[in-house]
Amino acid sequence: MQEFGMSADEIISQLATMLKNDKDYDSGKILGSMCTKPLNIAIKVYEEFFEKNLGDPGLFPATWAIERDVIKMLSKLLNNPNGVGYCCSGGTEANIIAMRIARNSHEIRRPEIIVPVSAHASFDKAADLMNLKIIKVPLNENYQVDVEGVRAAISENTIAIVGIAGTTSLGVVDPIKELSDIALEHDIYLHVDAAFGGLVLPFLRKLGYKVPDFDFKLKGVKSITADPHKMGMSPIGTGGIIFKDSSIVRNYTFEIPYLAGGNFKQATIVGTRSGASVIATWAIFKYLGVHGFTKVVKKCINHTKELAKGINQIDGVSTVIDPIINVIGFKSDEFNIRKIDYELRKRGWALGGFPNFLRIVVMPHIKKCHIDEFLLDLEYIIHKLRGKNLGSSIKSSVEMSY
Ligand SMILES: Cc1ncc(COP(=O)(O)O)c(C=O)c1O
Repeated sequence: MQEFGMSADEIISQLATMLKNDKDYDSGKILGSMCTKPLNIAIKVYEEFFEKNLGDPGLFPATWAIERDVIKMLSKLLNNPNGVGYCCSGGTEANIIAMRIARNSHEIRRPEIIVPVSAHASFDKAADLMNLKIIKVPLNENYQVDVEGVRAAISENTIAIVGIAGTTSLGVVDPIKELSDIALEHDIYLHVDAAFGGLVLPFLRKLGYKVPDFDFKLKGVKSITADPHKMGMSPIGTGGIIFKDSSIVRNYTFEIPYLAGGNFKQATIVGTRSGASVIATWAIFKYLGVHGFTKVVKKCINHTKELAKGINQIDGVSTVIDPIINVIGFKSDEFNIRKIDYELRKRGWALGGFPNFLRIVVMPHIKKCHIDEFLLDLEYIIHKLRGKNLGSSIKSSVEMSY
């Protein structure tokens, strides 16, 4: 830290220079993130109420009440009028909280959790933090968890089964109904990670898409992660964990004795947490309503279809599956996918990288012009790589025509 302070103007101008290398959502180049630019209403509200701290709800009972309302809205969307829960820092914390509640609900000395191999890394973190054995079950030909594999993995030490509704890699929805049946049969906790899908699938259903049951409609589902800071367009740092009812979580809350607002019981991992992001989420839910969210999802899924079609029209690359939600994986049987990624990055595109494919998440900040520009670049890159293989004349003519 320097000896004397700087003026606000100086700081802002210095920061503007320092942050120039960061990507921004408006550019359309962020094609591989599950986050997006928060809605304007959220930014406004966030600025207005930035000092609220839900780590000390006794000081901010009205903010706490707003959080109850957000959770109620999320829970109802997920077919449960009685859900309880918290907004937390993100899907990672939500999944860790769920695994902790599952573990504490059982008295098992060497607890094990069963997750699909497609599960997000947050379950590895949960396993590491809580010394849980994590059993990863392979996927079927549709990239869903293999139900028989889950069944076979159950042991007397199993404390939780995890299903994903909108996988990180391809946006696939696991057969949650079957997992629910297994969970009920064996009296095991079932957690659904709908961090991304939770604010997509209900609206896709409204649009008439065939969406399998994945939420609290299924009796075996004990908790669901659904993150406002993904398709909810909330400020970064707004995850969501919802439990079927208060009996699941009631006995496993932490009581923090020193709080200025008085004792308060919560099951979140973090202490101090943003109230502003929760209020901003409330504002978004009120601003858009189901109708508004459905419109957003419609735009994203239409863009997804268009982009997937465009990718499949380029000889040399193809989508891994027909997109189920607004997530696209694409591969190449002809070229090393890392090479394609490298060339895309050189042109400013930022996609998600998986071992054999690249991932695009068609978030609300992606416009038609970005899709067109991306497809042009991708086609050009494929020609360029092929040109390199076939000889310099092809490469140069393609480059000229580009
Ligand atoms: C299915 C799923 N769960 C959990 C997470 C973790 O969310 P976060 O990055 O908000 O911690 C992600 C992140 O992409 C995800 O796709």
